[in-house]
Amino acid sequence: MTGGSSTLKIENLIMVRGTKAVVHGIKLEIHPGKVSALLGPNGAGKTSTVLGIAGVVEPVFGDIWVDGINLKGLDSDVIRRHGIATVPEGHQVLRDLSVKENLQLAGGHLSGKALSQSIDRVLNLFPELKTRLQQNAGDLSGGQQQMVAISQALVVSPRFLLIDELSFGLAPSIVARLVPVIRDIAASGIGVLLIEQFTHLALALASHVYVMSRGKVSYDGDPGKLKADPAILHRAYFPISDREAVGLV
Ligand SMILES: Nc1ncnc2c1ncn2[C@@H]1O[C@H](COP(=O)(O)OP(=O)(O)OP(=O)(O)O)[C@@H](O)[C@H]1O
Ligand SMILES: [Mg+2]
Repeated sequence: MTGGSSTLKIENLIMVRGTKAVVHGIKLEIHPGKVSALLGPNGAGKTSTVLGIAGVVEPVFGDIWVDGINLKGLDSDVIRRHGIATVPEGHQVLRDLSVKENLQLAGGHLSGKALSQSIDRVLNLFPELKTRLQQNAGDLSGGQQQMVAISQALVVSPRFLLIDELSFGLAPSIVARLVPVIRDIAASGIGVLLIEQFTHLALALASHVYVMSRGKVSYDGDPGKLKADPAILHRAYFPISDREAVGLV
């Protein structure tokens, strides 16, 4: 499904939202064929990081390297053409268009046979969408909409897939359905960055984990160490000032 084996490297990324710096010089690497997870509490800067990589919000500083090219500051369309696809927070689909139309629109430069072959290939990951192609996307369940959103990102055969909150608002049974799909996507060679608040899911899927807290990466390592030492996550989710405020320290 993919070409090349470049790594997506984010270095010294600084993001400002409004007037506030919310990402303070972070470093991430997303490797082809692997799932990396980006965990952290509300407001940690996870979505801002994704928007910065995707070129939706321009980083004020930093480098985003792929194939020896620095993507920082390029338009989101150009970044997408370099093989970086995003599934935005909240399974966003065009609700008044059919599932098929959603996928066709996501096909970008593809047309005709190439587009229909690509849609067929993606639908093999989600056979449950095949019978719903003519339905309005807005009439689908949240889980099915997330499947459409992931499919949209995959139609153009990206090399990297950034998924902002895979499990957002979904029942555990639906999330369990998505887990093998994420594994299959990575097994096809795509480098996946899974942004999650639901840490169990990310730790089960990822071979590398970043934990973000207040705009900084507070942990960068393998999931085993995080599973063995829950205090690392606890400190990120409940910084010491918060723990003091509620009398925990
Ligand atoms: N459009 C915006 N304008 C101003 N500030 C923003 C904007 N979007 C986010 N922020 C602020 O940026 C900081 C980081 O937010 P961000 O959405 O990146 O965090 P997050 O880790 O994705 O959180 P969540 O888990 O809630 O999705 C927060 O303080 C947030 O209030
Ligand atoms: Mg977010």
